[in-house]
Formats: sequence, C-alpha cells, structure tokens
Amino acid sequence: MSGSDMYVSLDIGTSTTKVIIAEHTDGKLNVIGVGRAPSDGIRRGTVVDIEKTVEAIRSAVSQAEDMVGVTIQGVVVSMLNYQTNLSRCHGMIAIKNENNEITTDDIQDVIEAAQAIAKPSDREKISFESCVFKVDGVEGISDPTGMFGVRLEVEGTLITGSKSIVHNILRCVERAGLEVTGMVLQPLAAAETCLTKDDKDFGTVLIDIGGGITSVGVFDQGQLVDAFAIPVGGSQITKDISIGLNISLRQAEQIKLEHGYAFSADASENETFEIDVIGSSKALTINQTDLSVIIEARLEEILVMVDDELTNAGLNQLPNGFVLTGGTTVIPGMMEIAEQVFDSRVRIVYPDYIGVRHPSLSTAVGLISHEIEYGQSTEVDEYEETGVREQQQDKVKEPKAEEDKLVNKMKRMFGSLFE
Ligand SMILES: Nc1ncnc2c1ncn2[C@@H]1O[C@H](COP(=O)(O)OP(=O)(O)OP(=O)(O)O)[C@@H](O)[C@H]1O
Ligand SMILES: [Mg+2]
Repeated sequence: MSGSDMYVSLDIGTSTTKVIIAEHTDGKLNVIGVGRAPSDGIRRGTVVDIEKTVEAIRSAVSQAEDMVGVTIQGVVVSMLNYQTNLSRCHGMIAIKNENNEITTDDIQDVIEAAQAIAKPSDREKISFESCVFKVDGVEGISDPTGMFGVRLEVEGTLITGSKSIVHNILRCVERAGLEVTGMVLQPLAAAETCLTKDDKDFGTVLIDIGGGITSVGVFDQGQLVDAFAIPVGGSQITKDISIGLNISLRQAEQIKLEHGYAFSADASENETFEIDVIGSSKALTINQTDLSVIIEARLEEILVMVDDELTNAGLNQLPNGFVLTGGTTVIPGMMEIAEQVFDSRVRIVYPDYIGVRHPSLSTAVGLISHEIEYGQSTEVDEYEETGVREQQQDKVKEPKAEEDKLVNKMKRMFGSLFE
C-alpha cells in the first residue's frame, strides 16, 4: 500500500450502512475494501436509535478493515439529504495587514462573515459550496491567496441541515470510535460518481432512490441549485408487496429482488413463482405482472412527487434530463417508468470500479472521489506481518497540491463546529 493515499468513506443509508476503503495511486482509484451492515437505527432520514446505528457503523467498518488488513481511524461521511436548506450568501472584509496581501486567514474571515448572516440558529452547517471571490471589485476569482487587495468579498452556497439530524449522525460516527474527516451532502457525493461536468453545467436532476428516502439534487451551471427528499423508497415497496400479497416482509423483499419489475407493461406473465400466504398452508403461484403492478404503483407515486416538487421550484424542464441511482433503481423497467413520468431522457448510473458496480454504492464511492478532489487522505493503522498494528507513516505529497486542497477544504468546511 506504500506510495499511495488511502481514503475511507462512510455512507449511512436508511437501509444499509456502507464503508469503502480505496487507494489513490497515480491518479487511479482502486477500491480495496467494502463493508455493509443493515441500518436498523435509521428511519426515513433520521437516527431513531443511536446504539443500533453505532453498531451498524462498527460492523460495516470491521468488514472493510478485515478485507484490507488495516484499522480505520477517520472517515468522510455522507449527510442525509433530509430537511436540507441551500442559501446563497455574500460576505465582505477589509484586508488589514500592512502589505495588503490576502492570506488564508483572510479567506477564513470572509467565509465566516458570509455564513454568519445566512445561518439561522436552529440549523447546522454541512458545507459551503461553489464559492467565488471578488478582490477590489474584480469578479470570478477562485483562489485569492497571495493577491494584493484592500477589499475581499465572497459569494457561495451555504448548505445546512436540521441540527438534530446532523448532530445525531456525527455523534454516532464518533461513538463508533471514528474521526470525521469530512462531511458531504448526499447528492453532492453521489454526483461525483454519477454526473459529468457537462451534466452539472447543462442542467440535470440526480435522483437517488434508496431504501427509506428518495433524495434529489438539481445541478445547473456547475452548481447544486436545489436539494430535497421524499421520505419514501425501496422499503416502502417491500411493505406494499407484503401487504398486497399477504406475505412476510422477508419474502416480500426476496421476491422483489428476484422477480421485481418496475414497468408492468413489459413484465412477464410467464415468469411465475410461489409465495407463502400468511395464514394459509398452501403455496400460491403468482406471476411477475401481478408483482409488477404493486411495484409500479409505488414507484410512479414517488416519481410524480419528485416531479411535482421540481415543477413547484420551476426546475422540471432542465435540458439534460434525469440521472437515477440508488439501490432501488436496480429493478428492471425503472428507466421506462421514469421516462414515462418525466417525459424526458433518463439514465441509470452506478460506480464503474471493480467490486462496487451497484447503484446503492454511488454515494459511498462518490465520497471518496470528493475527498480526492477537495479533502484529505485518511490515516490508517496497518496490520504488520507480526500481527502488531503499527502507525502508518505520513504520506509524502506534493506541497502545492496540498496547499490547493487546503484552500478548497477551507472554502467548504471552515466554520464548521466539527473542525
Ligand atoms: N436487485 C434489486 N432489486 C430491487 N431492489 C433492490 C435491489 N437491490 C437493492 N434494492 C433495494 O435498494 C434499497 C437499498 O438501496 P440503498 O442501499 O441505495 O439505500 P440506502 O442508501 O440504505 O437508503 P437511503 O438512500 O434511502 O437512505 C432497498 O430497499 C433494497 O430492497
Ligand atoms: Mg442512500
């Protein structure tokens, strides 16, 4: 593992908690460890049981650790896109030092000034995105460090979440014995996997249909311009199947995965399977079309809710169409039903790396890509052949690259309670 940087991500979904360990060598990302555990302590975007959530994190972490032979210390965490708020904000300061050279402290100060106005006391900061500086009225500066100026201004998007959601997630991670090295709103992380620069520039809606929530991020002109969630996902489809066919939740989940189809017009009446109806000793034979009608009804409802929300925000006619990801989008026929509801181009996207080619892992992989771009690698303890775990040496990196990353990271994270 020497000569490469290591990154670890933690995606606490409402159905599964995922951990990914990846190496980044010569610009190439290699996933080397994956861990998954059921998120029994999360319901519809909120932590409802701290102990169970901590247990899920520990379990996913230890699976990934065992695959790689390391002990994880820090993780970059995805923040559930639930009750998220985006506000554009502006800050301004005078440069006080005698030679008028703008320092990283000045950048910190101006970002703080911008956020102080925008953040209500009942909200918690997740990150500060898309920030652009102005020096003495000159616009469009991405990094003013070292420039001469008397007045420094910044504009950016402050992303905040509900205090209880953000604090509870972070508390669980810390209780699991991990340091939070970064925090990224879920759609921003998934976008790193699923959207190209052109997608973000030309107007694309990214929809992650997971277990408990359907999370939406709208990207235009290179920025996240809207983010919201509908508290319904694949678990609700499983419940519908269980109620509709009068079978156990376990069997409902199993037939959904094995025979599910999202677009009933294309489902097969010839694909039949047996179910154990509760209260009956005789197995009942049903076909894929019967099952598909239930799945389609719920998916259509979810997608129509997303469409209504986008219409209300004036964002339903973006030129680049829709990108779907998240575990539920694996159901065949998903693209067809989405195209029908949105009347637009739809793609289903997932990570293109060995070992993680599944839409449920888009966010976890995206967190790693995000940290490679803006954050920092993670320190791990490596198991030695003797069986003794020793602290890995700090990795040697190019000083300039480190400096750039520092400014980027500061832009996003500075002012956070957790730094
Ligand atoms: N092959 C499949 N067919 C149908 N559904 C699937 C398949 N694989 C996974 N799912 C569903 O995907 C859902 C889990 O997806 P995912 O892991 O993206 O959710 P999550 O990240 O835990 O939750 P959320 O994003 O809502 O917080 C479950 O409801 C599961 O049943
Ligand atoms: Mg998810």
